[in-house]
Amino acid sequence: MKRWQFVWRLVPLLAMMTFILSGCGIDELTTLNPKGPVAEKQLWLILISLAVMIGVFIVVAVIYVYVLVRFRKRPGQTGIPKQVEGNHKLEIIWTVIPFLLLFIIAIPTVKYTFELDKDYSKDPNALQVKVTGHQFWWEFEYMNEKVNTAQDLVIPTGRTIAFHLESADVNHSFWVPTLGGKKDNNPGMTNMHYLVADKPGVYYGKCAELCGTSHALMDFKVKAVTPDEFDRWIASMKAPVAVNSALASEGEQIFKKSCIGCHAVFDPQQKQVVGGKVAPNLVNYGDRMTVAGILINKNPEDVKNNLHTWLKDPQEVKPGNLMPNPQDVPGSKMETSLGLTDKQIDALVEYLAGQKSTK
Ligand code: CUA
Repeated sequence: MKRWQFVWRLVPLLAMMTFILSGCGIDELTTLNPKGPVAEKQLWLILISLAVMIGVFIVVAVIYVYVLVRFRKRPGQTGIPKQVEGNHKLEIIWTVIPFLLLFIIAIPTVKYTFELDKDYSKDPNALQVKVTGHQFWWEFEYMNEKVNTAQDLVIPTGRTIAFHLESADVNHSFWVPTLGGKKDNNPGMTNMHYLVADKPGVYYGKCAELCGTSHALMDFKVKAVTPDEFDRWIASMKAPVAVNSALASEGEQIFKKSCIGCHAVFDPQQKQVVGGKVAPNLVNYGDRMTVAGILINKNPEDVKNNLHTWLKDPQEVKPGNLMPNPQDVPGSKMETSLGLTDKQIDALVEYLAGQKSTK
């Protein structure tokens, strides 16, 4: 193959890579569009390193091309050109310049490395949130407010959020690219991390550590709201929710018989949150932005459809999750993978989708 043919064949490959890599910015799973001071500082570090690297590349490329052209073999030239060995001036120049360039990168990098590792766990102005990674979902516990939720992390804008990162099983990694870099959730220890959101909005969160079958589906959403709205949300998480239809109260009966061992809900009779802690907390479930973190509730009525899809076959939606298999459910009719009949699913959907804040 001639060289130009080889180069020509590389063109479609390069074009495809440009296309795929630029696709990384879709759906705000990007570090290039910062929405808070932490992410801004980190982007600045990326840009300053990039600027230095591009500068070095340009200078080296220009010298390279110049030397290639200027000292090329001329027609009629014979023998080896005059050999040059050792040049103190040049050697000093190409030692000092990289040293200075590394210094330029090192100063802000070291400064921000310490600054971004600051521990806000004792700061009374910071919101303390314990984040527990589970296979394959996220638990968020507002430590001082005594509120627990899953998959939707609601935070106030303009306030430092101190995250206490933990894990219930294996290593996970907590990552909200538009708000800042990732940090690991390791079993048996607490890693401190902090983020700040400048403006209200919904930001994409993801697990960034291979943690099992559904690692790629371990998504969550961060909803940044104004401080007032955040206070209302906290209050709504403690407010009673009425069950207002026959179908919903049938669902409530099923829930209290089968699901409550693992999932918690608000009980209007006891006026408190009741239920297990090993699975996602379902208080105000009808308000959530997703079902299982990945089935998006774009419109309010999507909650019901998505819940139906999920309850029909949780293993189909998120393989390897810990919802019980039909053989684990006593007296299972095997109509669905959870051992629930379609009618039972409808009742459960009605009950859970009806769990909404009264705002
Ligand atoms: Cu959890 Cu990947």
